[in-house]
Amino acid sequence: MKHKTLTRRDFLKLAGLGAGSIAFGGIISACAPYLQTPASTGVAPVSTFAPTLPASADLEIVMHAAAGQVNLFPDKPTNVWHYQAEIKQGDPASVQTLPNSYLGPLLHLQRGQNFRARLVNELTEETIIHWHGLHVPAEMDGHPRYAVASGATYDYSFRVLNRAGTYWFHPHPHQRTGAQAYAGMAGLFIVHDDEEAAAQLPTGEFDLPLVIQDRIFDANRQLVYAGDSMNGVLGDTILVNGQRNASLTFKPAQYRLRLLNGSNARIYKLAWNDNAPFTVIATDGGLLEKPVERNAITLAPGERVELWADFSNHTGRELHLVSQQFSAGGGMGMMGSGYPQGTPFNILAIRFEGDVTRLFPHPSLLSNPNFYLPEDSLRTRRIEVAMQGMAGFINGRTFVMEEVAPDERVRLGDLETWEFVNLGGGMGMMGGGMGMGGMMSQPHPMHIHGVQFQVIERNLDTRQSNGYESLSDGFVNDGWKDTVLVLPGETVRVLVKFEDFAGMFLYHCHNLEHEDGGMMRNYEAQA
Ligand code: C2O
Ligand code: CU
Ligand code: CU
Repeated sequence: MKHKTLTRRDFLKLAGLGAGSIAFGGIISACAPYLQTPASTGVAPVSTFAPTLPASADLEIVMHAAAGQVNLFPDKPTNVWHYQAEIKQGDPASVQTLPNSYLGPLLHLQRGQNFRARLVNELTEETIIHWHGLHVPAEMDGHPRYAVASGATYDYSFRVLNRAGTYWFHPHPHQRTGAQAYAGMAGLFIVHDDEEAAAQLPTGEFDLPLVIQDRIFDANRQLVYAGDSMNGVLGDTILVNGQRNASLTFKPAQYRLRLLNGSNARIYKLAWNDNAPFTVIATDGGLLEKPVERNAITLAPGERVELWADFSNHTGRELHLVSQQFSAGGGMGMMGSGYPQGTPFNILAIRFEGDVTRLFPHPSLLSNPNFYLPEDSLRTRRIEVAMQGMAGFINGRTFVMEEVAPDERVRLGDLETWEFVNLGGGMGMMGGGMGMGGMMSQPHPMHIHGVQFQVIERNLDTRQSNGYESLSDGFVNDGWKDTVLVLPGETVRVLVKFEDFAGMFLYHCHNLEHEDGGMMRNYEAQA
């Protein structure tokens, strides 16, 4: 196994948050018509939504979406777009800012609390915030039809109904989700509850987020949003919590690590370089019933996984979180990009110093997930995803802002089986000397807004099994999920129930370039 070695370790300082303006969206590929379309929804923006608000919120913030700068390199600052929170009401400790990072903020809420946020769009283009994984009303979910123009605001107000877990937020404007997220806008929405507290997991400094992203920087230290809508943007530089060459100093103790793949398109196959197994305690929608062990974890864009790690005998050691080489789905990333899917990387170096200060017990029973029963499913919906040329399709259709097909209407209260089918279609039309001429298979991390689902079955068309195990051995199908990786040739069945909120929600591929390229549709929940 070969890894890109991180030799330098630099802790970088945030120089200032100047109002410098930047122009993102310089897509290099000539093969990305969707990505080059200027953002225009054809729908009049809703400037401010004023729902009936509870008299007070447990946490109320103003979220500025704005241009800024971070010092990622010693010589020059890097222009970014980021979220900056201003607390209006509530406990200041519930809003955590990552020092020297474009990423954030980290919001901490208790299940049942009321949350309010006013998005202030200080960017030069329209935007909207989506709360990924949260069960919120349609108007609060950040559908692109609610995107607000530069200078406008959007008010969010909702009760936190989700169980404890690591949820997150990012922009969702029409065809600009990829570019805006890449520019730096993303943060965590961490929910706590009593069940989690009873599990006695590590807290405080022993409860850490690790948000993994990849980027490309030019010689001027600026972000380059380059790629194509077939592979998505695949960077050559890995960042953790917004830092390059990431290195952290841990105590020899037990930790709860909250991992988010916040990359636009890159899948990671995570492992420790000493080959110690992972103890997985949670996935997208919170704690598992009990911990599961994995030698490697496959984490696709949008997915989260939480680890319980016992480093109490690690004094003086150095441990690396790596992404292992993999090849699944034949032609993944063999064109254009020099850093294709499956490239091995060093992700994070952890050094251990100090004494064991506090001991947390090894978790056994974590939660009662209250799972659905497959036999209660009322119907099965087949959802075929495919790339055709440069565009993404779901059941033969691309995204249309307010379009809902008859087979995309669901009834509130119904439990259904959604069957994601990745035909691996889409012809290799990229040229570029690949000489494959056949099917351009792509992995698709499929995400449904507004719900958490259960993965109940995976089937593989063995004609497309080339390299499959190199990723499937790291799947964590347990627990509640809102994003599931569907590899070429795979059919993945999930149980999903639509509850509480009528209206239009999205489902899409979380490869953000596939999403912006049309691999997204609405579903409508009706009473
Ligand atoms: Cu994180 Cu519509 O997604
Ligand atoms: Cu989402
Ligand atoms: Cu996709």
